[in-house]
Amino acid sequence: MRSFLLPVLSFTLGLAASAFADPTLSPWRVHEQRSHIPTGWTRARKLDSSASIPLRFALAQSNIENIEALLYDVSHPGSSNYGNHWSASQIAAKFAPKPETIETVRSWLIESGVEPHRMKLSPTKGWLEVASTVEEAENLLLAEYHVYDHETGTKHIACESYHLPEHVIPHVDFVTPTIHFDARIQKRDQYSRVPIGQPGQGSTPKTTGHIDDILDQIEDCDKQITPICLRALYGLWYEPVAGNINSYGIVEYTPQVYVQSDLDLFAKNFSTDLEGVSPTLVSIDGGSLTPSGSSASGSDASFDYNGESNLDLEYGMTLVTKKQNITLYQVGDWVEGGSFNTFLDALDGTYCAYDGGDDPSQDPVYPDTASGGYNDDEDCGTVQPANVISTSYGYNEADLSAAYAIRQCDEYAKLGLMGVTFLFSSGDEGVAGNTGNCLNADGSQTWDGKIFNPSFPATCPYVTAVGATQVSPGQNVWEPENACEQVIYSGGGFSNYFSMPDYQKGAVKGYLAANPISYSKDIYNSTGSRAYPDLSANGANYVVAIDGSFQLVYGTSAASPVVGAILTMVNDARIARGKPTLGFINPTIYSTAFVPSFKDVTNGTNPGCGTLGFNATKGWDPVTGLGTPYFPSLLAKWLSI
Ligand SMILES: *[C@@H]1O[C@H](CO)[C@@H](O)[C@H](O)[C@H]1NC(C)=O
Ligand SMILES: *[C@@H]1O[C@H](CO)[C@@H](O)[C@H](O)[C@H]1NC(C)=O
Ligand SMILES: *[C@@H]1O[C@H](CO)[C@@H](O)[C@H](O)[C@H]1NC(C)=O
Ligand SMILES: *[C@@H]1O[C@H](CO)[C@@H](O)[C@H](O)[C@H]1NC(C)=O
Ligand SMILES: *[C@@H]1O[C@H](CO)[C@@H](O)[C@H](O)[C@H]1NC(C)=O
Repeated sequence: MRSFLLPVLSFTLGLAASAFADPTLSPWRVHEQRSHIPTGWTRARKLDSSASIPLRFALAQSNIENIEALLYDVSHPGSSNYGNHWSASQIAAKFAPKPETIETVRSWLIESGVEPHRMKLSPTKGWLEVASTVEEAENLLLAEYHVYDHETGTKHIACESYHLPEHVIPHVDFVTPTIHFDARIQKRDQYSRVPIGQPGQGSTPKTTGHIDDILDQIEDCDKQITPICLRALYGLWYEPVAGNINSYGIVEYTPQVYVQSDLDLFAKNFSTDLEGVSPTLVSIDGGSLTPSGSSASGSDASFDYNGESNLDLEYGMTLVTKKQNITLYQVGDWVEGGSFNTFLDALDGTYCAYDGGDDPSQDPVYPDTASGGYNDDEDCGTVQPANVISTSYGYNEADLSAAYAIRQCDEYAKLGLMGVTFLFSSGDEGVAGNTGNCLNADGSQTWDGKIFNPSFPATCPYVTAVGATQVSPGQNVWEPENACEQVIYSGGGFSNYFSMPDYQKGAVKGYLAANPISYSKDIYNSTGSRAYPDLSANGANYVVAIDGSFQLVYGTSAASPVVGAILTMVNDARIARGKPTLGFINPTIYSTAFVPSFKDVTNGTNPGCGTLGFNATKGWDPVTGLGTPYFPSLLAKWLSI
């Protein structure tokens, strides 16, 4: 069923290919190509042909075409294998590239004149690296490398397209450096950089600023959301009993960090027993709460640096209570930052590229030798994944190449097979992308683009995407919530990279049948691709302690850790009864038995790209998904399987 788009165009480069001394028999075909130069970049000059360039081939994994079926087998409530999650070594054995894959790529390279000593296979066999010159790389890939300049002064090496012999194509996911362009931009100000291509870019929650009075009354949840509002909305009254063996992870990407005095201020008002309590810090690739050499954690204190982490942890910790510790995965040092890939590398050694840096044009590279950097080997398979992992960061799909996004998405499926639930906020700009950018026909993203711009990893069919709702002004927590239309709009829509997974076909077809979309098919993907979000939770008017006072905060960023807390409490009850963890929940929550455990959201829209976006309606919709989770009902259902 899995029919991902691979950007392989089928035409043969007859003449161009024969211009080179080509020892292989099969013709070359385009493997990936880029349609435009991303905003802010210009092509400066041809790269010197004698310069050295480390070519990296991402080798195709075996059995990856079956991963959806394998995942359903352990995640579908009707399956006799429900909850029979896999071990890390089972995963490694099942998906390692086949010997035939490694051999095909190696022999092609050897026939093309690459001596074996210049090739290096990563310990987990996922990557083959070739120490090459630009001239050789250009001949191997029928590509032309250029240096590109960014307006900030950063330089980047890329080509516009590249080719591989036909018989090699099935064995290679992608090659770097090639067309991929999300080079990390250094902002001039030392610590204020959030690199392009880093998951924090433009997707932090938003604030309307400081508030003086905290209402904290159940009658005032339309004005301010505090923990008691969320408990009432989702029926989350539960005291954990298996905290010592359960786990809930929240991921933060440096330079976003929490401030302990803010957690304490929040605890004073809303959960006094958490005063002085910190999350359990798991540092990944040098992730720390302060830049090395700096003692003052408050020195850069501001909403932009502390807003996300404080929000996630204050609500996450309070909702699961002191009886469940939270694991904070702090990813990346203060120079390079982190990426989803470097986090995944830490969780799964088989995903890890050798020597750090999965795609050096898109991911940080460790060891980082810059001053204050993490000058050590990248974390590979060193970190235990928590049972539920909430992430309030995201890219636009279009920031990444399809091949790159697909490889990462498959990795979420593997972690799902291992029993981990991955939640991602769905984005705060409705049908537009981060910072309100929309797509143009050539694939570029601009403010005035007209085409909807989906969010990643929310569109990966193997994660659970969380949208945002609100208690509308004048309404109370006992009335149905509406789609969030204050300050932010719930990210939702249809992927351009991933086809529709089976588990949501009924729900999405139901939506499309009852609500024929009036928009031109040029502005949203109408081919039956992965639709998101899957569910939602409140994302408006959160009271958050930030930098010594309280602010009102908005975002799907708030919704994801709340859903994570609810699922963690379900896991607690399951673990206490000797049942396996939830793992990948989507096939379950879309099932007929579970749909009624969500409060349907039927009012509101998610505007963007000059449109009103989609409508929240009866049943699933691309604004609020299945609706908001109702804990008592979900708990009962999940305890029955
Ligand atoms: C939470 O972590 C603290 C500090 O490591 C530990 O003392 C406590 O027992 C943990 N709580 C639970 C419920 O596991
Ligand atoms: C919140 O906490 C602060 C500091 O403890 C206190 O002054 C304030 O009265 C509290 N507000 C509410 C509504 O509990
Ligand atoms: C629908 O949402 C709007 C905007 O939040 C709100 O004013 C209106 O009362 C809602 N309608 C219903 C029926 O809840
Ligand atoms: C729509 O999504 C599919 C993947 O399901 C993809 O093949 C197609 O290229 C997308 N269309 C556009 C215009 O991006
Ligand atoms: C949303 O609902 C309005 C009012 O019913 C309707 O006019 C519009 O076409 C709907 N939009 C979409 C995208 O379904």
